[in-house]
Amino acid sequence: MRIKAAILFEQGKPRPYATSRPLVVEEVELEGPGPGEMLIEVAAAGLCHSDLSTIENQRPRPLPIVIGHEGAGIVREVGSGITDVKPDDHVVTVFAPSCGNCRYCVRGRPNICPTGNAFRQAGQLPTGARRLKRLDGTPINHNSGLSLYAQYAVVARRSAVKIGRDIPLDDAAIFGCAVMTGAGAVLNTAGLEAGEGIAVVGLGGVGMNALFAAVAAGAERIVAIDTNPQKLELAKQWGATDVFLAGNEDCAAQVRDATDGGLDTVIETAGTIPAMQLAIAITARGGSTISAGLPNVNASVSYLHASMVQEERSIRGSYMGSCVPERDLPRLLGLYRRGKLPVDKLKTSHITFDQINEGFDLLSDGSVLRQMLRPNA
Ligand SMILES: NC(=O)c1ccc[n+]([C@@H]2O[C@H](COP(=O)([O-])OP(=O)(O)OC[C@H]3O[C@@H](n4cnc5c(N)ncnc54)[C@H](O)[C@@H]3O)[C@@H](O)[C@H]2O)c1
Ligand SMILES: [Zn+2]
Ligand SMILES: [Zn+2]
Repeated sequence: MRIKAAILFEQGKPRPYATSRPLVVEEVELEGPGPGEMLIEVAAAGLCHSDLSTIENQRPRPLPIVIGHEGAGIVREVGSGITDVKPDDHVVTVFAPSCGNCRYCVRGRPNICPTGNAFRQAGQLPTGARRLKRLDGTPINHNSGLSLYAQYAVVARRSAVKIGRDIPLDDAAIFGCAVMTGAGAVLNTAGLEAGEGIAVVGLGGVGMNALFAAVAAGAERIVAIDTNPQKLELAKQWGATDVFLAGNEDCAAQVRDATDGGLDTVIETAGTIPAMQLAIAITARGGSTISAGLPNVNASVSYLHASMVQEERSIRGSYMGSCVPERDLPRLLGLYRRGKLPVDKLKTSHITFDQINEGFDLLSDGSVLRQMLRPNA
């Protein structure tokens, strides 16, 4: 079928994107679903910083590619072998492809499945297929086994989780990345318990979900930190007990002073090296620094090794919030139903294809939370 999609032909084009226009909206050909795949009408897809990082060339990707990895939609057709999902079902997509059989998958860690990741690196669906082509026949790569900046997407069965029809699809879309990543980092990776303290460094779509989860989990002290004062104001309204402006040298000392030596759990959700250094610096003795931010693939951070050992600190990564999507999306949506993950507050705007390049300028400025593309609007 012919559909409209936003194609990235070249990474690293200069800003402003309103002028350089890295995303080109074109009619493309989408093949129907093969065995183990399904066709989804994309209802909404979020503009996440990871898509911006792809545009910026922080991570090389096979080109041309249709990006977009956070979304929700309606199943329109299922391929052979799929019996538990049917047309008209609503789904949230899953951006970390997984095989279901490897030692990571069977241990409940499909988010780090190397088999799924190899297909992703190759720009394929986890079935090995590419279902998108330009009208001249040139194959187009998939992003994260998905490619959601498109009116429709063909995805593998494991790349989507069925959800209730009561959830508005453009709220559901945010669960596909920002919620699983931010709330999952707090509830799964950190295992935060009621009464504990936590800091969140970087208050974008991912960080604000970490904040919501910390409030929902009953944290006593919730320290929120960003370089943008407007994000601090929102964080205060949404349950942060203390806010600090990052970007000056005193920030780490101020946080340590205010928290008797730092927090036991610090979540980094900015994706920059200064933010990660700040996160390490405000982690208390014996505490954990958990990073969900994704800087350039070659960036590294240094830390004092002896202090790590003698003070029993830990530094660990959190990918897709350590989520098992089939297990965790239902409970995260349960929190949403109880008003504990108010993702509707994160929606800065709804946009159409003609505003997508401008949308990435706004995300890059740090002035927005989640902009939701409605490809069929
Ligand atoms: N680990 C995962 O599974 C996963 C999934 C999604 C996104 N990500 C990554 O998470 C990061 C956040 O994504 P997002 O969509 O929320 O981005 P965003 O652009 O909406 O938010 C980033 C926030 O960090 C703030 N910031 C920048 N530098 C800072 C600093 N030095 N100190 C404190 N705050 C600072 C910005 O002002 C902004 O509010 C990105 O790096 C993204 O690639 C990771
Ligand atoms: Zn994302
Ligand atoms: Zn696997």
